[in-house]
Amino acid sequence: MIPVLIAYSSTEGQARKIAGFMAEVLGEAGYRADVVDVASPQASLVQPVYSMAILGGSVHVGHHADALARFVKLQQPWMRGIPVAFFSVSLTAARQDEAGRAGSARMMREFLARTGLEPVRSGCFAGALRYSRYGFLKRLVMRRIARKEGGGTDLSRDFEYTDWQAVRRFVLEFARSFAGSPRKVA
Ligand SMILES: Cc1cc2nc3c(=O)[nH]c(=O)nc-3n(C[C@H](O)[C@H](O)[C@H](O)COP(=O)(O)O)c2cc1C
Repeated sequence: MIPVLIAYSSTEGQARKIAGFMAEVLGEAGYRADVVDVASPQASLVQPVYSMAILGGSVHVGHHADALARFVKLQQPWMRGIPVAFFSVSLTAARQDEAGRAGSARMMREFLARTGLEPVRSGCFAGALRYSRYGFLKRLVMRRIARKEGGGTDLSRDFEYTDWQAVRRFVLEFARSFAGSPRKVA
């Protein structure tokens, strides 16, 4: 089985859910995917045993997490030798217009420039509004942002915007383009 590393950073859980779904999709397709939270102690113990890697995380206040940047810097020497894909999760990516596409792509480019990561594939995925997990102030701030960005403003429920079919296509296209079908490997 072709081993794939999926490393993510997540604050409220949506990027974690996306990383877990990616592992499920890859598992069903015959790959072996290991999922690591870059903020966990396991992140510094990751070994260079993977044939490919998928890295990604969510955007907060315009930026990806520093923990994700640190992980990239730590693991980059060996990851330069394998195909790497990158995914970015944000509310901006939920906007169905050019401004949304441009904004989410800009935040992703900023992270790639900051870390020097050169993924062979990259994708921006819509995240979620988890009002149930925010504290009082965060709920109000996020509702204001949601109003501006066209997201849900009903504080009594959560909103999930992730296009799961797009996530599925992203991982399978990446895996098949750069590793081939795992079932062909002895
Ligand atoms: C405090 C806070 C700040 C955020 N800032 C941004 C932002 O600047 N741009 C954006 O597109 N989304 C922003 N978001 C939306 C998150 O990217 C979105 O909720 C995502 O699903 C969070 O993923 P996570 O649960 O994996 O952390 C913000 C969310 C929170 C709670």
